[in-house]
Amino acid sequence: MQIFLDTADLDAITARLPGGLVDGITTNPSLIAQSGADIFERVKAICEAVDGPISAEVVATDLDGMLAEGRKLRALADNVVVKLPLTRDGLTACRTFAEEGTPTNVTLCFSANQALMAAKAGATFVSPFVGRVEDMGGDGIGLLRDIRTIFDEYGYETEILAASLRSPDHVQSAALAGCDAATIPPKVFDQMIKHPLTDSGLEAFLADWSKTGRGGLV
Ligand code: E4P
Repeated sequence: MQIFLDTADLDAITARLPGGLVDGITTNPSLIAQSGADIFERVKAICEAVDGPISAEVVATDLDGMLAEGRKLRALADNVVVKLPLTRDGLTACRTFAEEGTPTNVTLCFSANQALMAAKAGATFVSPFVGRVEDMGGDGIGLLRDIRTIFDEYGYETEILAASLRSPDHVQSAALAGCDAATIPPKVFDQMIKHPLTDSGLEAFLADWSKTGRGGLV
């Protein structure tokens, strides 16, 4: 499963690149605004730092505006994925970009029917928002499973990019649901690697080793 970082914070991104665990980045207008950076400069810098798909979202809501903004974002780098809202105009823009060979990420997906429409529009990725569905009392992981079932049943190649994931448990459930990718905040990325038994186990191994009076192995 691909792991994307959901952030526009360049330092947070570069700190997590060693090890090759980060497959791409997703941003949204809120994350770019939070960073305080110019969207074009920041997206370009992220694209140079990360070898993988970088989702950059349009802010226009009409078709012509989305097409113009998407083309401007896409011109920044070959790995830009144009992120479009799941609206009627967003899906029309998605179809146009698909015909032009521009990869897309259709975002703000909250139902299996919406995901089906994104797949029909030729989206490269669709982003179901698990955490926000749960905020409303819904079944976010069930939504991922339903989308997986529909895409498999009809052979849609659109990748399911689980989004709005807020905990390692969310990521594990997205993986078990058969998602192609998960986008996570840097904090959740770090939490996925840590386990208290790993820490205490390592501490005990090293304490035993130090009793031998020998140092490191080289
Ligand atoms: C996805 O592309 C979004 O940027 C993100 O996952 C939204 O997460 P939130 O609901 O925690 O804001």
